Amino acid sequence: MENTMKKQLITAFIALTISSLAQADDIAAGEAAYASKGCIGCHGAAGNSTLPDTAKLNGQHALYLTNALNAYKNGGRNHPVMTAMAAGLSDDEIKQISAYLAAQ
Ligand code: HEC
Repeated sequence: MENTMKKQLITAFIALTISSLAQADDIAAGEAAYASKGCIGCHGAAGNSTLPDTAKLNGQHALYLTNALNAYKNGGRNHPVMTAMAAGLSDDEIKQISAYLAAQ
């Protein structure tokens, strides 16, 4: 194998490993925040809500969840409970919780 190609493969492998490790960190932090911020009380274990008026969040796309939480936080979307819940989340927590729920 040509040397430059080997280098490119090794670089790609390292980049992939780092990004999947970072994602695993987000998911673990998101699981903790999902419980400690009280989301679990309404949206259920692992985002599988059993309350008929509360969204199931498990398996939802991370981008969709991030957009929804940012909309509550920024006032683009209004709901008495969720506006208050999202106001208490940092940008990192929104990203982490979204990664966690998307992975369920
Ligand atoms: C007291 C109950 C309650 C708690 C606690 C709660 N939620 Fe919600 N959540 C709701 C309800 C009800 C809705 C639907 C609101 C609406 O109609 O916009 C909702 C909507 C959402 C949505 C939008 C779903 C969609 O498909 O549009 C997301 C995302 C979400 N919640 C995430 C969270 C997160 C993350 C937390 C914890 C920080 C949390 N919720 C805490 C009741 C709750």
